[in-house]
Amino acid sequence: MFKNILISAVVSLGLTSGAMAAGGGEQHIEDFDFSFEGPFGTFDRDQLQRGLQVYTEVCSACHGLQYLYFRNLSDEGGPSYTPDQARAYAATVEVYDPETDDYRPAVPADKFPANTAAGAPDLTLMAKARAGFHGPAGLGINQIVYGMGGPEYIASLLTSYNGHDEDGLYGNDTFAGGNISMAPPLFDDRVEYADGTPATVHQMAEDVSAFLMWTAEPKMMARKQAGFIGVGILVLLSVLLYLTNKRLWAGVKGKKLKSDG
Ligand code: HEC
Repeated sequence: MFKNILISAVVSLGLTSGAMAAGGGEQHIEDFDFSFEGPFGTFDRDQLQRGLQVYTEVCSACHGLQYLYFRNLSDEGGPSYTPDQARAYAATVEVYDPETDDYRPAVPADKFPANTAAGAPDLTLMAKARAGFHGPAGLGINQIVYGMGGPEYIASLLTSYNGHDEDGLYGNDTFAGGNISMAPPLFDDRVEYADGTPATVHQMAEDVSAFLMWTAEPKMMARKQAGFIGVGILVLLSVLLYLTNKRLWAGVKGKKLKSDG
């Protein structure tokens, strides 16, 4: 019985991940060591703040974050700015107001602007829309072990330009097909971090990818906590059920059956 369940689980896993891996080709994915990995992992507040800085100063020129509210910047578990800091940040961004048919400084209740001018995709959910890890052999076991690898994909994409440019496209070892229309957005010291962290390409790529993981799953820490409480309650319930069962049947199971006569 158990064997059957195991076999069907392995087969269905293989089928789904096989379908997902199809068309991906050979990609270079570096396994970045993010603070939020694993069951106990949490977002690193300073890293998220640095990531927002990279997004603001570099990526926002072409990309939007149209599902994120400015007030989210002061949510617990995220970049955790104070509400005043979030308001001050919002005021530096211009948003279109349909009521006045004009642009005005944003307020915390506004969303980040969309930006499609350069033909670049929105980044709010990008970390959940890409998978860095596949296989082996279409089994999807790597995704169980390493996670889906969305942020690893983004960070690898940003660090994998190889200079083999063709037809106005830029050679990239991570992007499927090997050529992307996004020019390399990062170079060393592209931003100056307020906390003094050296702004290498690797560091900026990791920071902005962590930030984009947060925009894609802002409640990750709450989800993990709820999971722990849930599993804890189930374990407790199992122990209680086991003890109750023992006690209920103690009178019957403890005795040897006597044959009549
Ligand atoms: C000069 C404009 C420009 C800038 C700046 C820029 N991008 Fe892009 N980005 C693009 C375009 C255009 C595409 C679409 C590329 C394609 O599909 O060939 C893209 C695509 C992407 C993708 C999706 C790749 C995929 O798998 O489909 C990611 C992720 C991304 N950019 C992240 C970033 C990050 C993070 C930054 C900031 C560090 C950034 N971009 C800065 C123009 C830009």
